[in-house]
Amino acid sequence: MTDTVIAQMATTPDARLREIMDSLVRHLHAFAREVRLTPEEWLRGIAFLTAVGQTCTPHRQEFILLSDVLGLSRLVNLMHDAEGREEVATETSLLGPFFRENAPVLPLGSSIARTPSQAEIVLYGTVRDSEGRPIAGATLDVWQTDEHGLYDLQRQSPEEMDLRGRFVTDAEGRYHLRTVKPLGYSIPMDGPVGDLIRAQKRHGFRPAHIHMMVGATGYRELVTALYFADDPHIDSDTVFGVSAALLVRERHDDANAPLPGLPSVRFDIVLSRARDQAAGRVGADPARVTGAGRVGADPQTITAMR
Ligand code: BEZ
Ligand code: FE
Repeated sequence: MTDTVIAQMATTPDARLREIMDSLVRHLHAFAREVRLTPEEWLRGIAFLTAVGQTCTPHRQEFILLSDVLGLSRLVNLMHDAEGREEVATETSLLGPFFRENAPVLPLGSSIARTPSQAEIVLYGTVRDSEGRPIAGATLDVWQTDEHGLYDLQRQSPEEMDLRGRFVTDAEGRYHLRTVKPLGYSIPMDGPVGDLIRAQKRHGFRPAHIHMMVGATGYRELVTALYFADDPHIDSDTVFGVSAALLVRERHDDANAPLPGLPSVRFDIVLSRARDQAAGRVGADPARVTGAGRVGADPQTITAMR
């Protein structure tokens, strides 16, 4: 069966599509044979995938979540890193399903928390190249959950942006902003991916983190996140995004912190020089994904997802 399918698909003119589909069919067939998949089980699988698709809206991307909980997003990120990240450059982490384009551009020192119900912290650091030279004018997109563990997209009025902003580094490559310390939180558990996580008796939590997407002309876009080392789930992230190099601690005694009197978190960033235009994002603003998955989709739609 497997060879027959692959032979029929040999007409595919796009060489990369042919390579991917050949391999997918071989692995899918091997998987079905290995687990001795029954018709009833495969129908349940189809129902599950259907539900994953039906759960997607312009504010929610259940397929990205599925890719995340299977470790596939992280694997693809790690392979992308292995191809082009300079050794001293900051590691990547997951984009996740809550990134949004067009977050407000804010002056350095601004707060991204519109209605903080607890004391703010200052998040600060530098953006440098692999030789330690500061990168002025780098853009940092920052987004996170609030102190209760919710993203703006999960609230009553998801169209209102909160706890996200864009900052531009100063002449010495520095940035600083105010925010609240995010709370570790459960991935969305009210959809089919949540059903799977419960069936597996996994806890579904992500440790507290702040996302960043950092870009500068001539450098590779960096999608990363910093993780609070004191979070109880720091060693068991449901989506496998944590690595030792991305751990931070809140400090109360940092004499270098730019806003005295506030607890501080320092996160210095090193960018790799760009070698190609390949995007490193496994994910996109959910509003962008709709319609872009058709094989042969308008290339502009796909470029817009990057
Ligand atoms: C997040 O970082 O918020 C996230 C990432 C993957 C899945 C769910 C949430
Ligand atoms: Fe997140």
